[in-house]
Amino acid sequence: MDRNVQVLVRLRPISAAESTAYGQKRCLIQDSSKTLSWTGHPETKFTFDHVACETISQEKLFRVVGLPMVENCMSGYNGCLFAYGQTGSGKTYTMMGELSKDGNELSNDSGLTPRIFEYLFARIKEEEERRREDKLKYICKCSFLEIYNEQITDLLEPSSTNLQIREDIKKGVYVENLMECYVSSVKDVMLLLLQGVANRKMAATNMNSESSRSHSVFTCVIESHWERDSMTHLRFGRLNLVDLAGSERKARALKETA
Ligand SMILES: Nc1ncnc2c1ncn2[C@@H]1O[C@H](COP(=O)(O)OP(=O)(O)OP(=O)(O)O)[C@@H](O)[C@H]1O
Ligand SMILES: [Mg+2]
Repeated sequence: MDRNVQVLVRLRPISAAESTAYGQKRCLIQDSSKTLSWTGHPETKFTFDHVACETISQEKLFRVVGLPMVENCMSGYNGCLFAYGQTGSGKTYTMMGELSKDGNELSNDSGLTPRIFEYLFARIKEEEERRREDKLKYICKCSFLEIYNEQITDLLEPSSTNLQIREDIKKGVYVENLMECYVSSVKDVMLLLLQGVANRKMAATNMNSESSRSHSVFTCVIESHWERDSMTHLRFGRLNLVDLAGSERKARALKETA
């Protein structure tokens, strides 16, 4: 993890509908943990930082992608994770997956975001106990927005539409009037996710009956403070989790509504 930007490709299993329509034949073959071959003419090989196979579990993917980002953010670095791909390729499944209604238990299908926060709060507890003498404390606050037709809406307060992007010498780039909620457990985060996901713009495409038509950005600012040598130390890390709208052209993908 010594490079700033990494690209991981996740292959998803063939769906039942695809199998019925086209059979099990694949046009991509995974050659190694970093390379894929497209079996067309001419056959073409592509290399990435990682290629995750069709059968990789949500848990395993979290260990490869999510866990190192949490560790970096706790150390005061910013991290950003984008899911990019065409409609139905598995972006929302990867980023969110199944969200439990009561927010307590994660399931096999829970995606990166709930897993990241489960791990984050476990690590915070561990660190605060380990550095009790320093009076180390973490504070986390989250926001959730969507970008649709180049307009920003607050997914936690959907009446806040057309929010503006501003720049400030101290804060950097930020979205004005965006709601920020303090969170201290996976349950708190899960409730925000459920609320936000329900407010997101959706429509059916030819390849996904529950297609997210907007970009969504879930942000968590992780602040830590501790005391040493009679001084208070402060550290900030920001984690952006982005589920992009399908990368296909809208006119070709949206279902005909006669
Ligand atoms: N790795 C996977 N394993 C099992 N099912 C998956 C996997 N990836 C995606 N799916 C399923 O495929 C369908 C489409 O996935 P998803 O909604 O995540 O696509 P998307 O990339 O977010 O599409 P869109 O751009 O239209 O929002 C969903 O029913 C999802 O549960
Ligand atoms: Mg989606």
